[in-house]
Amino acid sequence: MQLNIVKKTKLIYFYISFYFQRYLCLFLIYFDKAFFLKSDYSHYKMFTVVDLLEQELGFQGFKQFEKEIDIIKKNISTKHDFPLIYDADKANYFLLYCLIRELKPEIIIETGVANGLSSNFILNAMLLNRKGVLMSIDLPKYPDQKVGLYVTPNLNDRWNLIIGSSIFKLKSILKQFSEIDMFIHDSANTYHFQKIEVLLAFKKLKKGGIIIINNIGHSNAFNEIIEIIKPHKKFVLRQEDKKGDFTGVIIK
Ligand SMILES: C[S@@+](CC[C@H](N)C(=O)[O-])C[C@H]1O[C@@H](n2cnc3c(N)ncnc32)[C@H](O)[C@@H]1O
Repeated sequence: MQLNIVKKTKLIYFYISFYFQRYLCLFLIYFDKAFFLKSDYSHYKMFTVVDLLEQELGFQGFKQFEKEIDIIKKNISTKHDFPLIYDADKANYFLLYCLIRELKPEIIIETGVANGLSSNFILNAMLLNRKGVLMSIDLPKYPDQKVGLYVTPNLNDRWNLIIGSSIFKLKSILKQFSEIDMFIHDSANTYHFQKIEVLLAFKKLKKGGIIIINNIGHSNAFNEIIEIIKPHKKFVLRQEDKKGDFTGVIIK
């Protein structure tokens, strides 16, 4: 009886907290879209993933990873609860997979999971590396929406999925680690979400650590972040499937 009351109270708290975060984020997204839409990345050299990996990061022989990527892509589940348009662009998951296989990071945090395409590639790379933990945050449209259906049970050991808004959850997750190796932003791709998340994550990013920011073309956030943090290196990638948008890459 008492257990039932505790369960019900927890459930009610979860629903109130969920919808509070959801509506606050929706408000912030509309606000960003109304006032922070301008962007200009024309002063950047635009890279393709292969050029970035080969020329700028000096990765040799990463092409062996292409075969692994093809196999993973072929085996992705057809089950999904988010629109397929949410799935990561090829340039993104290719970059993520190669970086993780090559650098073998320990701690990765990502915001924005949807069906879990990026999570799947990250976790598969960690599985082959036999190293790494992934913390993923997502705030779905409604509490029962199934987040990360592409992530197969064999990948669950290294995966922690946290439901809630990135700007509420990220701070407490970062507190669990003395430093992180990689941060990937792909939640709401608007000005305040990109700026708040990246500035928080950068503080805990280890020297040489990497931040990947998906869809920077929607606002000037990437330019402003660079001005504030002055990272060791910064790059802008042209996306492949989602033509017309860019991915920002920062190395501390
Ligand atoms: C483009 S999708 C992510 C795609 C995923 N990274 C992939 O590679 O397939 C964006 C996701 O961000 C989530 N999202 C939107 N606003 C959020 C917020 N404030 N906090 C956390 N997740 C959020 C959405 O529910 C959606 O699942």
